[in-house]
Amino acid sequence: SGGKSESRGALIVLEGLDRSGKTSQSSKLLTYLEGLGHSAELWRFPDRSTNVGQMISMYLSNKSQLDDHTIHLLFSANRWEKRSLMETKLKTGTTLIVDRYSYSGVAFSSAKGLALEWCKAPEIGLLSPDLVLYLDIQPEKAAERGGYGGERYEQLEFQKKVAKCYQVLHDASWKIIDACQPIEDIEKQLQEIVLDCVMTCQKGKPLSNLWS
Ligand code: TYD
Repeated sequence: SGGKSESRGALIVLEGLDRSGKTSQSSKLLTYLEGLGHSAELWRFPDRSTNVGQMISMYLSNKSQLDDHTIHLLFSANRWEKRSLMETKLKTGTTLIVDRYSYSGVAFSSAKGLALEWCKAPEIGLLSPDLVLYLDIQPEKAAERGGYGGERYEQLEFQKKVAKCYQVLHDASWKIIDACQPIEDIEKQLQEIVLDCVMTCQKGKPLSNLWS
């Protein structure tokens, strides 16, 4: 179609249990893409820098109590407040590597017993990722890695429930990566998949909205 003067960036999401290695792999991906000369940024949700993010942070560190529905909507609001910036970045050619997104929102809240469809509803209309990378690890293995920081959800029994919810959520488009492989092997696999996605988006794959 129209001029290809401005190819868009890709929206790439990393998901997984706590301690699955998302955060370090996200920053390795950023370095990789920048090294290839791509414009890229690393984002994460929750974004604790906003007012909503501060409320979420207080809740996660057990400094405040909130109803399960309320905190769910705050996590969602925290994505909505970044949506327009996200769209602008993508449309002006910046690839976003995003550490957790709507799938965390739905998996963690439905693990508490909230209905799946209710959890998905406030996410409708957020930008749909071009790629979801799921770093797959058994909850027991993740717990063995240590370093659970003592935040609200960092407990083995809860993480087991979250793992089950992620299983319900994922579809054929997700790339499931065995997170117990050596770090360098994971890194190589991710690089290949991500580069392919970035190219596809450059070629004009349209942006779309959740859940589609
Ligand atoms: P995160 O900041 O990624 O964790 P960490 O402090 O370990 O780096 O996320 C904090 C927690 O919030 C994590 O346990 C997952 C949970 N979460 C939700 O419950 N809903 C959401 O929408 C998101 C993005 C995260």
